[in-house]
Amino acid sequence: MKAFVVSKYGKENNVEAVELPEPELGDGDVLVEVHAASVNPLDLKIRNGELKPLLPYKLPLVLGNDLAGVVIKAGKNVRRFKPGDEVFARPDQDRIGAFAELIAISENDVAKKPHRLDMEQAASVPLVGLTAWQALVGKAGLQAGQKVLIQAGSGGVGTIAIQLAKHLGATVATTTSTANVDWVKGLGADVVIDYKKDDFESVLHDYDVVIDTRAVRHSKNPSWCSNPAAKSSRWPGRLSPISPKNSGRTGS
Ligand SMILES: NC(=O)c1ccc[n+]([C@@H]2O[C@H](COP(=O)([O-])OP(=O)(O)OC[C@H]3O[C@@H](n4cnc5c(N)ncnc54)[C@H](OP(=O)(O)O)[C@@H]3O)[C@@H](O)[C@H]2O)c1
Repeated sequence: MKAFVVSKYGKENNVEAVELPEPELGDGDVLVEVHAASVNPLDLKIRNGELKPLLPYKLPLVLGNDLAGVVIKAGKNVRRFKPGDEVFARPDQDRIGAFAELIAISENDVAKKPHRLDMEQAASVPLVGLTAWQALVGKAGLQAGQKVLIQAGSGGVGTIAIQLAKHLGATVATTTSTANVDWVKGLGADVVIDYKKDDFESVLHDYDVVIDTRAVRHSKNPSWCSNPAAKSSRWPGRLSPISPKNSGRTGS
């Protein structure tokens, strides 16, 4: 099969198309014919070698963390998928390799592709979708009626996080540059702060949850945030889940 591999870490000329054997299929794996894959900032960081301490891959490595395609084989213990199923997936971080004609993935990391998404649309969803879901639902336990600030709403994670937070019934504020104000409003954001012109800290009040993928600094003891623990944290880039349980209030 054809695959794009990185054989040496670095920023330039290190990704090449090569011919590789078909991936080995484990008993709990499906073999997926890749119809679309998306490029995530994570792929660039891996290629550049920036994540070596966290993800010590053996080179050469097939890049690619997001894909959509069709199951062509299923391992003997696979229960949920059969050949012909249209799927989308974010493979386990130890088994990436979406930039290839074929990939073997644990069935636990695969989901049926929604019919109304085409292959390219579906391949754009898994990693940013899981990130937004894990932050808003898994970590923050966002509830209907709460208020959430999503920094960088026009980014890959931000665009999904805005839509997911609205779906969950939250009020959403987001920051973006002037060029993307209408775009994030169209995604459903209730309050849009153009960070080129306004300071979010002086616009917002009593927010319950913040997702900050840009590591934006905030002031000490900010009034836009309703939770005492988060108020005292100035760690940029850290998700501060603020539930009614530990804040004593739901925000309004
Ligand atoms: N993508 C993923 O699946 C994923 C998963 C886990 C973690 N992450 C991490 O999350 C971060 C963002 O990833 P991403 O994929 O969402 O990035 P991205 O698609 O490159 O988006 C970054 C966004 O940041 C905005 N921005 C720049 N300066 C800003 C500021 N001062 N205030 C508010 N917004 C600002 C830009 O929007 P404007 O043009 O409107 O300024 C841009 O749309 C990265 O550090 C990444 O490693 C990403």
